[in-house]
Amino acid sequence: MMTLKVGLIGTGWFGDMHAKLLTQHKDVELQAVTASSQEKAEAFAAKLPNAKGYGDVQQMLDAHSLDAVYICTPPFARGNFEQQCIERGIPFLVEKPLYSEAELPEQLLEAIRARGLITSVGYHFRYMDGTDRAQELLANRQLALALGYWMGGAPGGTWWRRQERSGGQFVEQTTHIVDLLRYIAGEVTEVYAAYHEGILSSQDANANVADAGTVTLKLEGGMIATISNTCIIPAGEQAGLHFYTNEGKLEISHGGVKDFTAATVIEYKNKSNPYEKQMEAFLHAVKTGDTSLIRSSYEDACKTHRVTMAANASALSGQVIKL
Ligand SMILES: NC(=O)c1ccc[n+]([C@@H]2O[C@H](COP(=O)([O-])OP(=O)(O)OC[C@H]3O[C@@H](n4cnc5c(N)ncnc54)[C@H](O)[C@@H]3O)[C@@H](O)[C@H]2O)c1
Repeated sequence: MMTLKVGLIGTGWFGDMHAKLLTQHKDVELQAVTASSQEKAEAFAAKLPNAKGYGDVQQMLDAHSLDAVYICTPPFARGNFEQQCIERGIPFLVEKPLYSEAELPEQLLEAIRARGLITSVGYHFRYMDGTDRAQELLANRQLALALGYWMGGAPGGTWWRRQERSGGQFVEQTTHIVDLLRYIAGEVTEVYAAYHEGILSSQDANANVADAGTVTLKLEGGMIATISNTCIIPAGEQAGLHFYTNEGKLEISHGGVKDFTAATVIEYKNKSNPYEKQMEAFLHAVKTGDTSLIRSSYEDACKTHRVTMAANASALSGQVIKL
């Protein structure tokens, strides 16, 4: 079996999560990591079976002939890493969201297309068992409305609470729900958003993201959706997407799917690990060139990014944005 040489950039919470999965994989050698400093990279690499740490991505890519790279930096710290991979023809998996602002992903997409590069984006809801189940159950129903939400507290990382670094909650977190809506129900054509501000920023002088938002969306084919979020509640985080159809309500959450029809309520719990499925799909593509198992490519993720960026633009201007 061919062993894939993989590198990882960004050694925080999710870099660590991906590193654990990669090092457990029998066909992967996680050879190198790049962090924001040489010391940090070396400390992270020392915990891995056989990896070297770098404070500079170019050095890492020059030193190893990698088959694939994982990019797990925060949204603002993007661009150069993808660009380097594109120039060298190295397939990459990048965490969502693609960036904190609108333009960069469009430029990178052009270069990815020109190179025909294999990419994958960390929209892991697409790989949940419940998502497959929801698609089967909804296939022959008439969808009228979806109600999505991400209700929780603001993560403490200093970048998350800064608009210019994370893009704000709708872009950074609720993007999963927007992406799931697109995956199941199709493309968004219109966006109108209203945001509430001032509570989080009054508690934390570093914070300048909105406290809450509610976004109305129209989809191709006429379906409508509303997706709301808040990051000011102290406890009780919940996220999900509910579909209202001619046969009842279907709820998707982190745990699985609940299907409420006229006669019954049936629950399907998620069993497999979506991050593992996401990794397998990407590694299979790198090995074989067959990208059919990748459920979110950079090109597809750009469409989700356009919707969340339109929500930010609408909240600023007060206008409906057509896509
Ligand atoms: N798919 C999911 O379920 C999921 C869950 C959590 C996080 N994420 C995503 O993963 C990304 C990282 O989030 P996190 O929670 O791990 O953040 P984090 O703050 O824990 O880690 C980010 C790491 O990137 C490093 N970094 C920053 N700038 C860098 C640079 N220029 N070069 C190298 N390293 C740099 C930081 O030092 C830090 O170690 C975000 O885009 C986030 O949205 C996805």
